[in-house]
Parts: sequence; C-alpha cells; structure tokens
Amino acid sequence: MNLFPRTLLSRALLLLHAFNLVTSTQLTRELCVIDSQHQRQCLMWTCTKGQTFQSCAEDFVTAVCTSNLSTDTKVQQCCVHDPLCRTTLIKTTRQTLVQTSTDGQGTPDMQTYFSEIYAHQKWGTAALKDNGPRHMYSGDGANANKCSSLINYINGDLINNKSVVEMGCGDMRVTQKLDFAQMTSYICIDVAPVAVEEATRVLGTIPACKNPDRTLKCQAFQGDGSIQLPSADVLLVKDVIMHWPTSLISSFVNTIVPEFQQALLTFEVAETDSKRPSIIPGEIAAVSVFDLDLPKELVAAKVLTNVCKSTNKGAFLIERC
Ligand SMILES: C[S@@+](CC[C@H](N)C(=O)[O-])C[C@H]1O[C@@H](n2cnc3c(N)ncnc32)[C@H](O)[C@@H]1O
Repeated sequence: MNLFPRTLLSRALLLLHAFNLVTSTQLTRELCVIDSQHQRQCLMWTCTKGQTFQSCAEDFVTAVCTSNLSTDTKVQQCCVHDPLCRTTLIKTTRQTLVQTSTDGQGTPDMQTYFSEIYAHQKWGTAALKDNGPRHMYSGDGANANKCSSLINYINGDLINNKSVVEMGCGDMRVTQKLDFAQMTSYICIDVAPVAVEEATRVLGTIPACKNPDRTLKCQAFQGDGSIQLPSADVLLVKDVIMHWPTSLISSFVNTIVPEFQQALLTFEVAETDSKRPSIIPGEIAAVSVFDLDLPKELVAAKVLTNVCKSTNKGAFLIERC
C-alpha cells in the first residue's frame, strides 16, 4: 500500500483548512508594523465574524499601505516595491490573528481578559469591599462613598432629560447613585458577563427604572463597547479606557465617541506627555489628552480633578466644537 499520496493529501487538506480558518466571533486586535525608525506602528483592527484570518490580514496590510504610514520609507518599500516583504507581512499578521484568537487557542479576547479579572478578584478581594456585591469587585475607584463630586456633577445637568449609555457597568456601586428619574433611558454595556448580571440585578432594584407603562427604561447588555454602542444623547465611561492599549483608546474616541452629543470620560491622567507604555487589556496606564487623539470636530474639557479622591484621576467632557 502506498501511503505517501494519502499523507500528502491530508497534509494539503490540513493546510487548506488552516489557511481558510475563519473567526467564530468578531475579533479585534492591535496589529503592528515596524517603521524605518524601528518603532512599532499599531492599528486596532477588526476581523468580522466568519471572515478568514487570511482575508482579514490582507485587509489590514492594504489599510496600512494606503494610510499615512505608507509614506514611511520602510513601509513604502514593503507595500510597493517588495512583493515578498508584503506577502511575509500578511503571513505574520495572519499568524498573530490565529495565535491571539480563542479559535487559535492563543491569547484570550477582551471578554476573557476582563472576566478573568473579576474571576480572580484582581481589582480587590471580598475583604476590601464597601457594600459591593460579594462575587465581583471593580476596585476602590468604584467606591461610591469617595465619588460624591462625580455623582453630583453627573446628576447636576448632564443627564437631565437625556438618554444615557454607559460603557463599563462594573459593579454598579457608583452608577446606582445616579438620578435615574432624570434620564429618559439608561443602557449599560459591559464586556464581562458577570458585570452585566450584576448590573441587571442592581437596575431591577431602582424604582425610577420601573416605568409605569412597562417599557424598559434601564437595561444592561454584554458587548464590546470599543466596537459598537447603542445610540443615546450622553455617553458615560468611568475608569475604562485607562485599561486599554493606546490604539484602542484613539480608535474609540474617533469612531464611537463622536456619535454622542456629549461624553464624560474619567481616567487616570498622565502627568507628562511621555509615550504611554504598551499594555494588554485589563492592565492600567495613565492616559494623556494627547493619547485620546481627538478628531478635529471634538473638544475635551477637564471638568473635574481628584475624581473619587484619586489625585491623578480626571473627568473630561467631550463635545462637538
Ligand atoms: C475598572 S471597571 C470600572 C467600572 C465602573 N465604570 C466604575 O467605575 O465603577 C472597568 C469596567 O469596564 C469593563 N470594560 C472594559 N473594556 C470594555 C469594553 N471594551 N466594552 C465594555 N466594557 C468594558 C470591564 O469589564 C469593567 O467592568
């Protein structure tokens, strides 16, 4: 019996399978190229559900080759003059996607990063809780007793007669102090299912969330708010973006934030303009206004300092010019 052709065939099929591997969910990753200064230049890139890793990698490289980055001599050489370099770039990008997808059994996605934090109480333990839920904890920054100036600011006028979306429900200790009676509707989105469960429970205890006409006024959903959010007048984002890589922050500020009339973002503010360290989702690094990379049509005003009694935490109101 000649096994050789069959082995060859199964190898070829395996290769074909690996090449055509498709994403089982929408996949957002930071993908990078190295420029002529040996610096990593990164973009937050999304593969749609069902797209092959190969086609997603090709799209990324096409985007790089038609972006501002293409003026860099090294990138230009790879994009225009050296087909082998371009093919290699697609191949390595594809490898990164496969290795970092849960499909490829590699690095976990956004949901897994933040769920792990809650599962392992990385933001604090039950012993440190201040009337928070017992099974999850969003850290001391979510201690409502310390956040009265922020709560008063939001309840002041920002949400009056407005529809509100909050990204990053967390354990809801601060959110439950908001004046829900003022809002026309409230939706919060969290990437961690455990936070959505807790938010749903908390919202169910808030009298102003129970509309007499039985329409759902307050809801919580699981989702990655860096990719998509429901529409509303006002967006609240408390202590979320400081846990993201810089390229995700700027893509969020440029694509999602402009969809709202007003957005209030709190985060740890970087004291200097020095380059923000590279982090994976869930780690923390202070953010400068420069990192927000505001598009021309938006302005940011620092409306609070010392947010939740944290000396380096600020609240920024972002609006259209
Ligand atoms: C430090 S906690 C802050 C919770 C709450 N906003 C507060 O300050 O009390 C950050 C929360 O944002 C959520 N989160 C992080 N990235 C997210 C994303 N891309 N989309 C939705 N939620 C996200 C996390 O799961 C976590 O619950």
